[in-house]
Amino acid sequence: MTGPAGRAARNATRRRRGAGRDRAGGDRTGAPTPVVVGVDDAAATTDPDMDALTRTIAMVNDKGGVGKTSLVANLAGQFAAAGYRCLLVDLNRQANLADDLGFRDGPIDDHGAGLLMSIVAGSPLRPAEGVRPGLDVVPGGARLVDLVPLMVSRVQEQGREAFRALATVLAPVAGDYDLVFVDCPPETTILTDLALTAARWVLMPTKSDGGGLVGMRLVGERFALAREQNPDLGLLGAVLFATGSRSRVVHAELREAMERAFGGQSPLFTTSIRHAERTAQDARRLGRLAHELEQEVAAQPAWWAALREGTSKTSSGRRLSPTAASVAGDYRDLGVELLTLLRAAEETTTADHRPEQEATS
Ligand SMILES: Nc1ncnc2c1ncn2[C@@H]1O[C@H](COP(=O)(O)OP(=O)(O)O)[C@@H](O)[C@H]1O
Ligand SMILES: [Mg+2]
Repeated sequence: MTGPAGRAARNATRRRRGAGRDRAGGDRTGAPTPVVVGVDDAAATTDPDMDALTRTIAMVNDKGGVGKTSLVANLAGQFAAAGYRCLLVDLNRQANLADDLGFRDGPIDDHGAGLLMSIVAGSPLRPAEGVRPGLDVVPGGARLVDLVPLMVSRVQEQGREAFRALATVLAPVAGDYDLVFVDCPPETTILTDLALTAARWVLMPTKSDGGGLVGMRLVGERFALAREQNPDLGLLGAVLFATGSRSRVVHAELREAMERAFGGQSPLFTTSIRHAERTAQDARRLGRLAHELEQEVAAQPAWWAALREGTSKTSSGRRLSPTAASVAGDYRDLGVELLTLLRAAEETTTADHRPEQEATS
């Protein structure tokens, strides 16, 4: 099923949930709803329909600041702008996704209450709709703190099968989307285990410094464990983030670290995201994605015209960095590369599952 065309077919079976829906936490005001979480409310983790999760991608690196949130926000934002239906699931307490998409403390920001309640009760997630056209989100936030002790007690009771909890609640809604991205937190193995047990693919941003590479080794360990519950989990690849380097030495080092971490696998995306500090600041300050800044940059007056007219600032406060267009271009290239890889992997899988006479005819 590929993109808007594939989705048209999928629409026939799409379950539409009520418009203006309330979340399981009953909270659309932004005020966190108290949830008491104890061992007793552990809902039975039913077998998730993993077929519904074939386009679910977990963005993982055990290290913070390597681009996980920037990548999921910009990839999903650009895919949505191109007509794909996308869902973002935020497993972070800090919920930087809310900053990057500009919905922090707004009406759809439930600080993770809906996600927590859904996992407590085992009921389907209810994404907040339309954070951008075609882009829905399951917000993260402070309420996710309660998810960790809940999962600890479930794992004690049920073993690692308990990590299927996210897959169980995500599968019933994932069919509504062409792509689902899960933004994982750094250094919170339990939440990462939930994501790795729900996803079909892992995408791993890294910086070219040693820190990102150590994070990669830890992801490799979680990846191997998660495959016990989720044997189809695959490594889509690593993406160099905020890099000025396209040097072969850097890429070779990265591949070596991946081979060590993932038992010989070392897929590295050709596209990297360039270092662009001012654009990153503009993005998070304004809650705009790189391609949205690109449009605003194109609309702002030339610097000399602004200087002549004494309007050195734009309506958004200060002049936006023109580098936004290049960064947006990097994300576009990455999106194309990602889809190409996904389609190739899906075709291989389909061929593998074809009946013998069909495959050989
Ligand atoms: N292209 C870029 N160049 C430099 N810094 C960037 C770029 N894009 C984002 N950043 C900044 O990098 C930091 C880490 O990014 P983030 O996506 O939050 O990483 P993570 O989710 O892995 O912690 C943030 O401060 C973000 O604003
Ligand atoms: Mg993050």
